[in-house]
Amino acid sequence: MCGIIGYIGNREAAPLMIEGLKKLEYRGYDSAGFCTVSNNQTLIQKDVGKIQEVEKKINLNNLNGNIGISHCRWSTHGGVTKENAHPHTDCKNMISIVHNGIIENFSELKEKLMEKGHTFKSSTDTEVVAHLIEDNYNGSIEEATRIALRQIEGSYALGIVCAKEPQKLIAARNESPLILGIGKEENFIASDVPAILKHTNRVIYLENKEIAILTKNSFEVKNIDGISLNKKINNIDWDSELAEKSGYDHFMLKEIHEQPRAITETLNGRIKDGKVSIKEELNFSDEELENINRIIIIACGTSWHSALAGEFMLEELAKIPVEVEYASEFRYRHPIINNNTLIIAISQSGETADTLAAIREAKRNDAKVLSIVNAKGSSIDRESDSVLYTYAGPEIGVASTKAFTTQLVVLYLFTLFMANLKRSLDYGKISELLGKLRKLPLQMEALLSEENRIKKIAEIYKDKTNSLFLGRGVNFPIALEGALKLKEVSYLHAEGYPAAEMKHGPIALIDKNMPVVFIATKDDYTYKKVLGNIYEVKARNGIVIAIATEGDEEVSKLADYAIYIPKTLYILSSILTAVPLQLLAYYVALDRGLDPDKPRNLSKSVVVE
Ligand code: AGP
Repeated sequence: MCGIIGYIGNREAAPLMIEGLKKLEYRGYDSAGFCTVSNNQTLIQKDVGKIQEVEKKINLNNLNGNIGISHCRWSTHGGVTKENAHPHTDCKNMISIVHNGIIENFSELKEKLMEKGHTFKSSTDTEVVAHLIEDNYNGSIEEATRIALRQIEGSYALGIVCAKEPQKLIAARNESPLILGIGKEENFIASDVPAILKHTNRVIYLENKEIAILTKNSFEVKNIDGISLNKKINNIDWDSELAEKSGYDHFMLKEIHEQPRAITETLNGRIKDGKVSIKEELNFSDEELENINRIIIIACGTSWHSALAGEFMLEELAKIPVEVEYASEFRYRHPIINNNTLIIAISQSGETADTLAAIREAKRNDAKVLSIVNAKGSSIDRESDSVLYTYAGPEIGVASTKAFTTQLVVLYLFTLFMANLKRSLDYGKISELLGKLRKLPLQMEALLSEENRIKKIAEIYKDKTNSLFLGRGVNFPIALEGALKLKEVSYLHAEGYPAAEMKHGPIALIDKNMPVVFIATKDDYTYKKVLGNIYEVKARNGIVIAIATEGDEEVSKLADYAIYIPKTLYILSSILTAVPLQLLAYYVALDRGLDPDKPRNLSKSVVVE
């Protein structure tokens, strides 16, 4: 995955692009590059490294011009080298392009172009597009792009400039996100909203196989056949402050702390008169909703963990059978579904390729698709039958935090909505359960004030190489999520298990070097059993970190370290227990000298298979 920003207007393009690219760095940070057009010449500067490093290496004086394209890369085809960094150009350096996606038929196109005499400078799939446009150039960059794109198979978000037509910025999209930012005497293209929000909040979402032609005073979007399209301008209501670090050292920490606010906003207007009020957001009739007799939740990564918690909620309270599937597996099976099956797709970015493909597979099979999405206007948002948004605001840190807890909140709301519809719970019970939900933001504030204690506990990981995370019931997915967070940002090996499974294998790993994180909150189900597991770990000299319910003396006597969460309903405890695990991962990463916002090899949204 990569990030793109392009500009056309009256201002110098390069400083704007550097600034915008920094907001897209979560999309890729192995190299970066810029191209401006000045005096009918393309000026290119690019190098390997994070944007801040590349910024130091390039010379802005050699990048003047009021039109430009830029790119931060997360490599797919071709190693991390200066030659492979974008922009890429044609033989004569007349056409310059930046690309996010994968050109699947690039080798055959490259072979044909080489036969025709084109010379290639990189080993990327992208460069082929520049040569293909050059090959079809007959005085119109727009026309040449259209002809070239008809020959391309795969995914792309493209920014294109041409030295011979310095008054035009071209953008095109297929399966990779790209937006247009409409300003006053200036226009932008970008992979994501935060890159341009400081300059404009008027945004057009490009759809697949659409090409945009921008000048400083105009924009036009056409389909691949050159037919002009009427596109809606959306007003983005995010505050650009939200996309900044607001004084925190890292986005991850800022986003962890934003959770009480994110939850409050996700609840806003959705609870009325003791009931869940989301009917207007659902594009399904009462009859369709009442007929749902099976739910399959599809997602990847952290969103898959929230799906597992959702399964617990929906079965326990709404009494609807639920299955949870990795989107990547679901899409290649032949799932047995019908129009009484509801597919719930969960995605922060709304762009995860496997989740999107799974949605398409489900729709082909007549299922109804409800998505839980954070990024409005994303592909999953647009392709789903109904969408319930998480109002977490832009999540920039690669490790998902506030998106996760707000997903759990939406799943809980949907569960109680369905419980009312299916009459599995009465009005009094639902209103009591919603009352507890409303308390969560304040309880989370209190929990976040324990940060220093968690920071101290993180120090025990300094010389450790492994960790186990154990939980049961609705907290089993949180154990998985705790382990994933630690892996992602600290590169420590960590595994999540249902606590009872410990005896079936993982117990062999326990010795004095193994920190074991137990989610041991009080409940009427398995609390005592989890205590038994803690004894077993202690008997083998393991280090026990327990996430427990406030006032639980028994756990504090047993565990080496305990972190307390405020009392809440068992089913809601998962939303609180996730928080100390996020902080633990964050501080372990810092202790190991790592940047939690830019974990190696990872990118924020996985838009390729
Ligand atoms: C979370 O910390 C990860 N970076 C990753 O697992 C992520 O949750 C996954 O790629 C799914 O992304 P999505 O929610 O944007 O679809």
